[in-house]
Amino acid sequence: MEIDVVSAPPGEVEADVLAFSVSEPAQLVGAAKELDDVLGGQLSQLIADGELKGALGSLTLLHTRGELAAHRVAAAGLGKPAQIDADALRTAAAKAAGRAASIGATSMAWLLAAGDSPLSPAAEAAAVVEGAAIGPHNPGRWKTSSGDNESKPLERLILCGGDAEAVAAEARRANVVSTWTNRCRDLVNAPGNELTPAALAAFAEETAGRFQTLRFEALGPDEIRAAGMGAFAAVAQGSHNPPRLISILYEPPDAARPDVLLGLVGKGITFDSGGLSLKPAGRMDEMKSDMGGAAAVLAAAGAIAELGLGVRVLTVVASCENMPGGHSYRPGDIVTAANGKTIEITNTDAEGRLVLADALWYARESGATHVVDLATLTGGIVVAIGDFFAGLFGNDADWSAELIAAAEASGDHVWLMPLHETYARYNESTFADLKNSSDLRQAQPAYAARFLQEFAGEGPWAHLDIAGTAFLERGRGDYYSGKGATGYGVRLLTELARRLS
Ligand code: BES
Ligand code: MN
Ligand code: ZN
Repeated sequence: MEIDVVSAPPGEVEADVLAFSVSEPAQLVGAAKELDDVLGGQLSQLIADGELKGALGSLTLLHTRGELAAHRVAAAGLGKPAQIDADALRTAAAKAAGRAASIGATSMAWLLAAGDSPLSPAAEAAAVVEGAAIGPHNPGRWKTSSGDNESKPLERLILCGGDAEAVAAEARRANVVSTWTNRCRDLVNAPGNELTPAALAAFAEETAGRFQTLRFEALGPDEIRAAGMGAFAAVAQGSHNPPRLISILYEPPDAARPDVLLGLVGKGITFDSGGLSLKPAGRMDEMKSDMGGAAAVLAAAGAIAELGLGVRVLTVVASCENMPGGHSYRPGDIVTAANGKTIEITNTDAEGRLVLADALWYARESGATHVVDLATLTGGIVVAIGDFFAGLFGNDADWSAELIAAAEASGDHVWLMPLHETYARYNESTFADLKNSSDLRQAQPAYAARFLQEFAGEGPWAHLDIAGTAFLERGRGDYYSGKGATGYGVRLLTELARRLS
C-alpha cells in the first residue's frame, strides 16, 4: 500500500473513497464539517434522520455526484467518546477500507482529526494505516477462482490533515510494520504440506537477503543433535520433514546500547498432530498455525531491519513437525536438553516447551541479554483469556513492564499472568529432573511457563503464550473480521525494539 500525505481541503482530495471518523452520538467536527458544507448538508441530514449514528464499526457510504473530487464519502463509526482508542480507529479504518475494496476502489483518503478522538493526528494516522492494511487481508490465497466479488487490497491511502512531517513518519512506520504483519499471517495460514521447517528457513533466508544488516543461519537435524539439543531433536524425530534451528542476527551500525542483545525466540511447529499422544480430529487442521511464534519473530526481524532500528536483535526459531510414526518419541522417554537437564516425556503433545527449552538455551548461549519467547503453547490460555490478550509470564518486573507498555502502544495486547514457584510442583518427575506435562487439569499455561524458566538462563526473560491470539477460530468483530492468522507479535516486537533503540 502506497501512502501519500496531503494538505488539500477535503473537497479537493482525489480518491475513490474519502473517509472520516464519527463518534457516537454523531456530530460533525473539523474537516468533517467542511465536507458537510461541500456536500450541501447531506451528512447533517443523515444525522438528523438517525441514519448516521457513529456506532463503532458502522459505515455510511454516499455518492458525491461530482460535488467533490472524491467519488464517494464514507463515515466510519468510532463509538462513544470515552471508549475511543487506537483500536477503535483501526476498526473504523478497516471497515472503510474493506468496503472500499469490495466495490473495486483502489484508493482511499482519510481525514485526520475529524472525529472526537483523543489521539494525535500522527497516532491516528498510524492506527488508520494498520486498520486499512491489516483489515482487508485475504486468507483465501489458495482459492483458484478469482470471482467478480473478489476484493483486492487498497493500492493507495491518502492521509489529510495534521503536521505533514509527523503524520508521514508515523504512517510510514505503521505501513512497514503492517506489511510484515501480513507476511507473518501468510506464513501462519500456510498449510503444513507447504510450510515445512525447510520452507520456513527459506523465508528467513530470503528475509535476511533483503538487508545488509541481517545474517541468516540454520542448523539441520545432525547439527541439532550434535549441539546436544536432545529435547528439540526428540520432538523432531517423528517426522520425515527434517527440523531447522533458524537464526537471524540484526546488527545495526548505530546501536544505542551495544551491551544489549534482544533475543526473540519462536516456537515453530509447522504442524502439531500431538505425536503419539495424538490430538482428537476436531480442529486439528488449525494446528498448522503452531508456528505462529516463529513467524512473528522472523517477520519482526524483517520489520526491525527495514526500519533500521538502533538495537541489536537475535531471532531464534526451533522448527519441526510433531508427528506420530515409527521414529516418534514416546511417552516415558527421557531426553536431555542442551543445558544438561533431563526431561521425562509424559505427553508428546506438550512439545512446544521441549523445542523452546533448547531454543532459549541457544539464544542465551549466543549472547542474548533480554529475551522474549512467543509460542502457541497451551489450549489453557485460550480457555482462560480468549483471543484478544496473549498471556505474559516473566521473571523480571521491569522487563514485563516494558512488554506491557510496548503491547499497549502496538495493538498486540498482553495480560500479566503468574510465574511462581508453586507451579514447579507440576513439573516434578519421579525419574528425571523434570516432566513435560502434568495429569492434573490445572494451571497448564502457568506450569508450562515455569517449565520454560528452567531453560531461560540468567537475565530478563518473558514468555508470551499466543495460542489464543495468533490464529482466530472466528472474527473478533474489530479489524480482525474473520477466521485465520492475525500476525500477532510483529507489531509488539517491533515496538519493543523501537523502545530499546
Ligand atoms: N499447540 C498446542 C497448544 C494450542 C492449543 C495452540 C490450541 C493453539 C490452540 C500445544 O502444543 C499443546 O498441545 N498443548 C497441550 C499441552 C498439554 C498436553 C499439557 C494443551 O494445551 O492441551
Ligand atoms: Mn502439542
Ligand atoms: Zn504445539
